[in-house]
Amino acid sequence: MRTLRRSAALVGVVGATLLWVSSAGCSKSTEQSPRKPTTVGFSQIGAESAWRTAETESMRSEAVKRGVDLTFADAQQKQDNQIKALHTFIAKKVDAIILAPVKEDGWEPALKEAKQAGIPVILVDRGVKVADESLYTTLIASDFVEEGRMAAHWLADKLDHKGIIVELQGTPGSAPAIDRKKGFEEGIRPHPEMQIVKSQTGEFTRAKGKEVMEAFLKSAQGSGLKIDALYAHNDDMALGAIQAIEEAGLKPGTDILVVSIDGVRAALDAIVAGKLNCSVECNPLLGPMAFDAVEKAVAGQELPKKIVVQDQLFDASNTKDVIESRKY
Ligand code: AHR
Repeated sequence: MRTLRRSAALVGVVGATLLWVSSAGCSKSTEQSPRKPTTVGFSQIGAESAWRTAETESMRSEAVKRGVDLTFADAQQKQDNQIKALHTFIAKKVDAIILAPVKEDGWEPALKEAKQAGIPVILVDRGVKVADESLYTTLIASDFVEEGRMAAHWLADKLDHKGIIVELQGTPGSAPAIDRKKGFEEGIRPHPEMQIVKSQTGEFTRAKGKEVMEAFLKSAQGSGLKIDALYAHNDDMALGAIQAIEEAGLKPGTDILVVSIDGVRAALDAIVAGKLNCSVECNPLLGPMAFDAVEKAVAGQELPKKIVVQDQLFDASNTKDVIESRKY
């Protein structure tokens, strides 16, 4: 009887111990479940183009979908405003920062502060030049050099490898302006009879694109030069330039071939209308990828240093078939 009671007591102790171990296991697994971000700061460049507006919308709607409190700061094209926004985010102790840097240089001090505060920084759309790459977690962006190459190859084909080209560059010092120029020049290098005779910034805006194209046309007229093609670093500048070409009494898409980058809806409409010849896509819908990266970074998971967004090319051969399915 005594032995029986003793074994029953033993079962009770073992049972209780097992229960304790398993409940301890449970609470441990709760402790280990990954931390979720609740507050994120997004420093956006501005609203210079339809592309930029689509990117902002993609970030905002993804934050709402994931229940994240997003602090949005529009820098109005000024790096100083972006740096101020970063300071505000750090002071607020946000869980992560999403940064679309207006230009490549000048980020080291602000990124160092974020790192010291233990706040991961996810770069979207444009890269930065820093000696220490551990200052940011990852860059989610298109391959801008490849976009420039794609535009050049398309144009080389259409121009039969010869022609006079004018170029509208993006914001000076920005990654897409630098890389799209580089990629295009690489693409036309094998064809010495393709020449860029004028190249100037149109600041990624429609108004400036129009203004600079007017000047290009005037100077070409003055010197008796025939412009065969325009290469614009984004659609908005190309759309402004198209207006300038029309106002000069010429037919955009026929008298002057127009090639640009972004693939926004208004550009695809212009392709269907025959005024724009080709637009290389640069996908702005980065919200889902950016917030996936934020979640991983906050949970302490490793991320690749660059996540490349895949793009395609639109011209008269495929635009009509895809235009209705486009989201921006
Ligand atoms: O960084 C991406 C570029 O910035 C887009 O091509 C342009 O439209 C935008 O303003």
